[in-house]
Amino acid sequence: MKREGSVSFLVLGLSILCLSWFSDGYIPPDSYLIDCGSSANVTMEGRVFLADSQASKFLSTPQDILASASGSGSSSDVSQLYRTARIYTGTTTYSFSISQIGRHWIRLYFGPFDYSGYKMSTANFGVSATDFVLLSNFSTTSTVMKEFSLNLTSSTLTITITPSSNSIAFLNALEVVSLPDTLIQDDASILPSGKYQGIFTQALETVWRINMGGPTVSSGNDTLSRTWVPDQSFLSSSNLATNFSNIGAVNYVSGGPTQDTAPSTVYGTCTEMNSASNPNSNFNVTWEFDVDIGFQHLVRFHFCDIVSKTLNQLYFNVYIDSSAVVTDLDLSSVSFNVLAAPYYVDLVTSTSKSSKMQVSVGPYTANGAYPNAILNGLEIMKLNNSVGSLSGNVGVSPSGSSSGNNTGMIAGVVVGVLCALVLAGLLFLFCRRRRRRLASQGLSKSWIPLSINGGTSHTMGSKYSNGTTISVASNLGYRFQFGAVQEATNNFDESWVIGIGGFGKVYRGELGDGTKVAVKRGNPRSQQGLAEFRTEIEMLSQFRHRHLVSLIGYCDDKNEMILIYEYMENGTLKSHLYGSGLPSRSWKERLEICIGAARGLHYLHTGYAKAVIHRDVKSANILLDENFLAKVADFGLSKTGPEIDQTHVSTAVKGSFGYLDPEYFRRQQLTEKSDVYSFGVVLFEVLCARPVIDPTLPREKVNLAEWAMKWQQKGQLEQIIDRTLVGKIRPDSLRKFGETAEKCLADYGVDRPSMGDVLWNLEYALQLQEAVVPGDPEENSTNMIGELSPQVNNFGQEDINVSTTQFEASSMDDLSMSKVFSQLVNSEGR
Ligand SMILES: *[C@@H]1O[C@H](CO)[C@@H](O)[C@H](O)[C@H]1NC(C)=O
Ligand SMILES: *[C@@H]1O[C@H](CO)[C@@H](O)[C@H](O)[C@H]1NC(C)=O
Ligand SMILES: *[C@@H]1O[C@H](CO)[C@@H](O)[C@H](O)[C@H]1NC(C)=O
Ligand SMILES: *[C@@H]1O[C@H](CO)[C@@H](O)[C@H](O)[C@H]1NC(C)=O
Ligand SMILES: *[C@@H]1O[C@H](CO)[C@@H](O)[C@H](O)[C@H]1NC(C)=O
Ligand SMILES: *[C@@H]1O[C@H](CO)[C@@H](O)[C@H](O)[C@H]1NC(C)=O
Ligand SMILES: *[C@@H]1O[C@H](CO)[C@@H](O)[C@H](O)[C@H]1NC(C)=O
Repeated sequence: MKREGSVSFLVLGLSILCLSWFSDGYIPPDSYLIDCGSSANVTMEGRVFLADSQASKFLSTPQDILASASGSGSSSDVSQLYRTARIYTGTTTYSFSISQIGRHWIRLYFGPFDYSGYKMSTANFGVSATDFVLLSNFSTTSTVMKEFSLNLTSSTLTITITPSSNSIAFLNALEVVSLPDTLIQDDASILPSGKYQGIFTQALETVWRINMGGPTVSSGNDTLSRTWVPDQSFLSSSNLATNFSNIGAVNYVSGGPTQDTAPSTVYGTCTEMNSASNPNSNFNVTWEFDVDIGFQHLVRFHFCDIVSKTLNQLYFNVYIDSSAVVTDLDLSSVSFNVLAAPYYVDLVTSTSKSSKMQVSVGPYTANGAYPNAILNGLEIMKLNNSVGSLSGNVGVSPSGSSSGNNTGMIAGVVVGVLCALVLAGLLFLFCRRRRRRLASQGLSKSWIPLSINGGTSHTMGSKYSNGTTISVASNLGYRFQFGAVQEATNNFDESWVIGIGGFGKVYRGELGDGTKVAVKRGNPRSQQGLAEFRTEIEMLSQFRHRHLVSLIGYCDDKNEMILIYEYMENGTLKSHLYGSGLPSRSWKERLEICIGAARGLHYLHTGYAKAVIHRDVKSANILLDENFLAKVADFGLSKTGPEIDQTHVSTAVKGSFGYLDPEYFRRQQLTEKSDVYSFGVVLFEVLCARPVIDPTLPREKVNLAEWAMKWQQKGQLEQIIDRTLVGKIRPDSLRKFGETAEKCLADYGVDRPSMGDVLWNLEYALQLQEAVVPGDPEENSTNMIGELSPQVNNFGQEDINVSTTQFEASSMDDLSMSKVFSQLVNSEGR
């Protein structure tokens, strides 16, 4: 059997540490540590395992056989824990009372030796816990520790050990210890694209736990007593990889992973590409792990950018077998824009068909960054199969191994009901205590993260706490109390409104710590609307990228639907193109904005395991921060806008007139390529600086996409460009740009480029522009776009929106948003 060796337990010396690493972190509510067969308490890595005699109250076994290695059979370097064992000649149960429901470690230690005629190395047995089979047909000739984690939902945990016929069973030590609720979340990504939900009810077995690029981190140096082993022996080609260590750099950010997620000795070392001084390196670093066929696995990738000198230097891809888990991962933007902040990604694999699992990281090369890729840590956990087993295809028999008769069942029901009552009581007390504790934390920080990629999952509390149900451990962004939002927006001061859309009003706001925010307040809705709202936020919270406007939080108190976004100082791209009187932006600036937006969209399409279609790409949804860095806004909110639910228009219609993919009308289906089409329209808008639909113009000019395509196809795009750009665009750059926009507007989605290609082409267009010899711009004017005939470019300067009824809501949104943003910018400029 392969599996036995799979959790490598590192045999350690007998050094006993006085230092308890437990003290400065999480204190487990339940903690049972038993050194089976031992007559004395034994300390291992700072934790005391109780003498077997202390465990008798938990135990029901046919025969007491306490074995001790006493010199023979076991070598001297084996930990004290493995020097004694308990031998079971028949079905045995341990029953532990559980004071706090939730996930618990169950660790089983096996180190066989011979004891007065009993040969543990030939023993064969099974172990189950509650309804899960942990081990079946198990035997081992070497020292192993098997680690499991189960979400215990009853007040008693029963572990059953069953020897196979004509065999004994044995155990050297046993551990049942709570672990923090936030460590294992309910959901994860799955491939090819989607979300796996339901990890809460799964039993997990730790198959591998690896510290990339570093030494063994032993249980004494881990707040949750985990052992992390080095990765070198798992590397497929160790010459392609190199290790790096900077433990001091690790910067745990509040709201992100903690020491409990993984210690700094794990996050502070990594294995990276050995691309030394070769900027053209392009290969993957690959590790290979043995796994059991027929099981799904939860794979947790730990990252921490300890290798970069500044933010946004490292872009890489992560693969499992041959599938991409994450592409273009930019740790800076997912880690709160803090360098060396820990971050992790959870993925549930499909049922393994091979006994090898390959994990790779490789550079993301499309953006010209120096090629590198890192991995700091990795955990592979097996999920129970459909019969509730982690080993084999036989589940725990429903009647149980001990009491299978009627009285037993009745007793079971009675006990069950009692347990439920006790549990409900405990839960109530727990919630109350938690709420009180949170309330006492006051408002110094007016919000607490619920959980972003592995953060803690406390619900925020404040003096405004109003007794609404507290939701624990949902994977949402930051949850604000209504009072905090009121405070931030000066009680929804009408003069702070910066936009009005179908969804409701948008307010400028300021949080207690001075952070500026944009607060979108939806019109109050029914309970059902609220549920949808929360689902949406759950999705939004997962997308963090430098070029996406981040959702800072939300508020769903009192049936409110409020979204809180980062504030974008310079408003919409649209307002900087036309209609607002703002100064015109240079070609280079415009290209950089387009590149930024393309990056954001590319990330939405490919960034996580699941692709997200924006569905409403337009210049009014590309916002600019104080440095004119472009960020895509309003992604994913497709289903929450009331204008969608309440009109007679097909609920699938989303998007703005003038930007809509014509293929949508044929196939009634929006795809990533629909976003590409809309983005192509934005590119022409940026070049021509006119509205995409302008009904005041002569018929052939009304629709920008049609009009621009006509000139592009004639090869005379320069005839219709923004007059402020005339003579300032290099012909090569314009040609590349025009071709890119043209391809985006192809009639059929299949003919359009991917966002990644668009991004690449725009970067190229920028390079072509920048290739100009520095000097007097006039000098180069012969190379620039020639004068254009004024009559062609005779657009009205008014920002006129089409007001066909069914599109009114979204046009309204543009109009008011851009107007108000520009007013804001104007007034600040004075
Ligand atoms: C082991 O530790 C427990 C709890 O600390 C204590 O009650 C017990 O007396 C100790 N047993 C022995 C044999 O030292
Ligand atoms: C038990 O495991 C052994 C190998 O360790 C294998 O040969 C045998 O077929 C297994 N038995 C069952 C019932 O799965
Ligand atoms: C345990 O399971 C219960 C019920 O499925 C769930 O409510 C709870 O959040 C889970 N807790 C953990 C830590 O998985
Ligand atoms: C790091 O790499 C060096 C050689 O490149 C090697 O000697 C050392 O053992 C490695 N350290 C770890 C912790 O893997
Ligand atoms: C913990 O780490 C320190 C420094 O890395 C080391 O000296 C110590 O032996 C480790 N402790 C254990 C229990 O492994
Ligand atoms: C890295 O591995 C993935 C998955 O196997 C593969 O698609 C990709 O081409 C590899 N990259 C390189 C540079 O070899
Ligand atoms: C694991 O067991 C739970 C409870 O029996 C079950 O709900 C779940 O579907 C099982 N997991 C898989 C992957 O089948």
